[in-house]
Amino acid sequence: MGMLEGKRILLGICGSIAAYKSAFIVREFIKKGAEVQVILTPSALRFVTPLTLATLSKRPALSELVADEERGVWNNHVDLGNGADLMLIAPASAHTLAKMARGEADNLLLTTYLSAPCPVFFAPAMDLDMHAHPANTENIELLEKRGNIQIPAESGELASGLSGTGRMAEPEHIAGFLENYFAEKAPLRGKRVLITAGPTYEAIDPVRFIGNHSSGKMGFALAAVFAKAGAEVTLIAGPVSRDTPRGVERINVTSAAEMFDATLPRFEKADIALLSAAVADYRPSAPAETKMKKKDAVLQIDLEPTKDILKTLGGMKRDGQVLVGFALETENAEANARGKLEAKNCDLIVLNSLQDEGAGFGHDTNKVTLIGHNKKMVLGLKSKEETAGDILDHILTELL
Ligand code: CTP
Repeated sequence: MGMLEGKRILLGICGSIAAYKSAFIVREFIKKGAEVQVILTPSALRFVTPLTLATLSKRPALSELVADEERGVWNNHVDLGNGADLMLIAPASAHTLAKMARGEADNLLLTTYLSAPCPVFFAPAMDLDMHAHPANTENIELLEKRGNIQIPAESGELASGLSGTGRMAEPEHIAGFLENYFAEKAPLRGKRVLITAGPTYEAIDPVRFIGNHSSGKMGFALAAVFAKAGAEVTLIAGPVSRDTPRGVERINVTSAAEMFDATLPRFEKADIALLSAAVADYRPSAPAETKMKKKDAVLQIDLEPTKDILKTLGGMKRDGQVLVGFALETENAEANARGKLEAKNCDLIVLNSLQDEGAGFGHDTNKVTLIGHNKKMVLGLKSKEETAGDILDHILTELL
């Protein structure tokens, strides 16, 4: 998955002739799967129209702090900043750079800049003498010292007719710069991750099955978090209706046998496998080919064990592969989880105790304990996304 895929980008546009290139920046980002929210300074409106940018970004382009004075509607700069993965100011004019350095907040772009907790990039665009002026170079230095990241201006012909450094970096260079930045920060770049999720259904007859209450939330959250960390993720999903996280390859299966067949051949190439699916331990040994008719007598269905996917992978595991199992326990939780860690040759068991309130099937939250061979870690009650993030951190620090 590309490094900009799924990223939420705030694009700030200043009053500069290079503003016409912002349209190409938006197009480049959208093509790469990012979401783009455009914010223009009032003087940028003289160079490009919000309509062009709104059409390309597929959402309104904002420029006013107060959207509708009469109805008291304002554009919330704090919300804009909070939801973003990065803010890019391109073109960044000398004037806006100076205001950013001084902490001025007289327009929507600047208030958003000051309140955005995400990384901020800026691509200066100005004439060569303005660019080289100590007032400007010192502002840029100060902004960099504070952690803002410059995408340096390029050399070439300028709008003034002069030639020198000051042209805004080309849109594809800007996109490449950002991709490199995130690629270097992606700890699982080049790694393959296999995840199982959700329940399995075991057919009794063509219309009935034995299943369980697993929602697949935990496995889907893991897939999203590992994909964001740069991994190539394959998600083998039991029957759940959930959206596939961005950049994740999804394979739908129904039964334990199908999950087994889908997972096994993919394990060899995987660096990490996380088996969060609630796989049925038993299945009807002879499912009826036609719908079973109701009778007065007691109905008995013979069940046979399914193949244990986790245990099979544990037997195949080679050096360097990380295998993570999940355990849902109602009693002797830790001892049982440790037993599974050994018996299934795992590197880590994520233990879910049903005794904990807010943990387990169907909840948005989870309370798990990570049990490894040398380390145990109790995580508090968290959202499944946060729990997935903690599992990722644990694997990065302890198992890779
Ligand atoms: N698992 C699996 N294949 C199965 C059954 C379970 O891959 N046929 C995996 C689950 O995805 C989970 C782990 O094994 O990662 C633990 O499953 P669990 O059902 O708790 O363990 P069991 O070994 O089946 O033991 P028990 O049901 O007796 O607790």
